[in-house]
Amino acid sequence: MSERILDVKGLKQHFRINRKFTVKAVDGIDFHIDEGETYGLVGESGSGKSTTGRSIIRLYDPTDGQITFCGRDISGKMSKDDERFLHTNMQMIFQDPMACLNPREKVMDIIAEGLDIHKLYKTEDERRQKVYDMLELVGLSKEH
Ligand SMILES: Nc1ncnc2c1ncn2[C@@H]1O[C@H](COP(=O)(O)OP(=O)(O)OP(=O)(O)O)[C@@H](O)[C@H]1O
Ligand SMILES: [Mg+2]
Repeated sequence: MSERILDVKGLKQHFRINRKFTVKAVDGIDFHIDEGETYGLVGESGSGKSTTGRSIIRLYDPTDGQITFCGRDISGKMSKDDERFLHTNMQMIFQDPMACLNPREKVMDIIAEGLDIHKLYKTEDERRQKVYDMLELVGLSKEH
């Protein structure tokens, strides 16, 4: 049986504009994603797709609901360990590479940025090797 990667229950993300007005960008949604599954969230512009993604990756504090990622509750106040787990195992991939990759940086440094932030290497050699391995994995190595 495949593992449940993400479980979203009753997720709400409201934005308070002023005393009288609150935008209910996401107002109680449920869905789940299992291992190996590709999930597409479809809806008209302004229906809350991007907000859902930002809430799940915890760019926002969800107004209500429960988000479980690989068995860990990531919807409320997270422990340091859960925070680290989330930030090293879930990421957003933006559609427009020109807007999300800094063209003034070297490919090596762009790819290594996550490794740098999370201190995922001990030596410069290890950093370089991890970047080469990643390029290999996605078919961008010299041999291709
Ligand atoms: N930070 C915010 N503060 C107030 N309102 C917001 C905020 N972020 C999003 N909204 C509003 O929430 C609603 C949902 O926006 P969202 O960007 O999630 O929609 P979307 O489904 O991704 O749309 P699109 O298909 O155009 O990308 C919209 O009405 C938007 O204006
Ligand atoms: Mg969007």
